[in-house]
Amino acid sequence: MPEADESKKEKQYFTDIPQKSEAFFLKGSNSLDWGMKNRLSNIFDPKSGRTVMLAFDHGYFQGPTTGLERIDVNIVPLAPYADTLMLTRGVLRTMIPPSYNRGIVLRASGGPSILSELSNENLAIDIDEAIRLNASAMAVQVYIGGEYETQTIHNLTRLVDMGNRFGIPTLGVTAVGKDLARDAKYMRLATRMVAELGATYVKTYYTEKDFDTLSTACPVPIVIAGGKKLPELDALTMAHRAIQDGAAGVDMGRNIFQSDAPVAMIRAVRKVVHENESPKAAFDYYQTLKNEGK
Ligand code: 5RP
Repeated sequence: MPEADESKKEKQYFTDIPQKSEAFFLKGSNSLDWGMKNRLSNIFDPKSGRTVMLAFDHGYFQGPTTGLERIDVNIVPLAPYADTLMLTRGVLRTMIPPSYNRGIVLRASGGPSILSELSNENLAIDIDEAIRLNASAMAVQVYIGGEYETQTIHNLTRLVDMGNRFGIPTLGVTAVGKDLARDAKYMRLATRMVAELGATYVKTYYTEKDFDTLSTACPVPIVIAGGKKLPELDALTMAHRAIQDGAAGVDMGRNIFQSDAPVAMIRAVRKVVHENESPKAAFDYYQTLKNEGK
């Protein structure tokens, strides 16, 4: 039998204090349900409103990429410094300790290898698998202007429908394949389409010019991919500019795990993303950590 409430203490209803009704901290996410917002808070830090996602899903189309030959040796030590890991279910199950308790963004599309037409992707995961793996979001490539453009759009919209049914956000990744343009005009088109078709947030590439126009024209948060390995100062400068131009974070892979000092690099990226540190100060921080052997 449950106990009756026989406390002698007077009940307190705080009738003079209106119930708080706070807006959710992420752009475009206010109308989402509680579970969706809770998962997004696992990806984006509610204090800064930003994220450092560590991307190492490259093997899903190009095998053991340089720096990813041994995820257990090279990547697991970086996990404590990431807000979120972006990876395949195969690597998650085999390499990532289940005690890891920040965000997991699962690669949800696949098909072609680097040897064939990259845009010919299909969905490569079921929603019950994403739930079983406690995913914070699912990621799908969209090839605007690519040979299989419509197919990849349908992958996105089906994933959005599945995710919305169970409260799992969808990350729409604007893929450029081997030779699509990467200028602001193209990225504005691609990011806006992906957002309008239902992605909860969007990943794109930084554009040297007019990135602020694509971040403002996109109604949901944008994170940038790192792209090919750059010198550390250049990568930190790109991250800094993207953040100042309205990005809500980075989803960076090669510029972290191919760095001479990956732990130092991810910690320097965090300074830029979460603390608005200048590229120069973040680079000095990187070098100090590197010289200390970190
Ligand atoms: C593959 C991806 C990668 O996760 C993405 O490109 C991030 O990695 P990098 O910073 O190395 O470009 O989405 O299509």
